[in-house]
Amino acid sequence: MRLDKFISDSAALSRSEIRKLIRYRAVTVNGTVAPSADFQVRETDEVKLNGKLIPYRKFIYLMLNKPAGYLSATEDKHDPVVIDLIPEEWKHFKVFPVGRLDKDTEGLLLLTNDGQFDHALMSPKKKIMKRYYAELDRPAEPGDIEKFRAGMKFQDFTAQPAVLEIPGDPKKVFIEIAEGKFHQVKRMCQQIGKEVIYLKRVKIGPLSLDESLTPGEMRELTPAEYQLLT
Ligand code: URA
Repeated sequence: MRLDKFISDSAALSRSEIRKLIRYRAVTVNGTVAPSADFQVRETDEVKLNGKLIPYRKFIYLMLNKPAGYLSATEDKHDPVVIDLIPEEWKHFKVFPVGRLDKDTEGLLLLTNDGQFDHALMSPKKKIMKRYYAELDRPAEPGDIEKFRAGMKFQDFTAQPAVLEIPGDPKKVFIEIAEGKFHQVKRMCQQIGKEVIYLKRVKIGPLSLDESLTPGEMRELTPAEYQLLT
């Protein structure tokens, strides 16, 4: 990769600052002053800025506010996929979605190229709760709360105890589930006789969706957010 890309991946500096530093001979690669910003380097090269080592940052962790209409996939023949939304600067990290949201579901979706992070979050053993805001076609009833709490049996799996909250309007509820089976929230709502007409994930474990992200926007997790999840 280009030297300026190596540095911008790994240090909080703009491309123009980096180019200036390279021009001022502040950057060395394997002990030799770097000749230009487009000088080709590898992840394993020893890049130093003013004598200080800049280790290459391999992994990236992105929070996306997923819009409806996109598949949680890296590619698809027919439909747009969340990877299409990645800004140019992060494309080369080759991220993938951590778990899945349905095509029509919005909200918090993490993207990373770190397989271990993905596995740790998705492993059913970890029982990381996922919180959703759901709009239903019919009002939820107080008795439904217990049905969620008891866990639900389906032909292909038994859902662990879940949480149904009805904070006000009974057609606008919050649901927390421990797993992430295919269409799980929709299927649990069907089992209490309601259809989900709008679904948005708002939280994964302790990590909340940054509501300042408009649908389709993403940003890197802050170090504190990353720590919350690991
Ligand atoms: N449950 C669903 O039914 N759909 C989602 O997208 C996520 C959880």
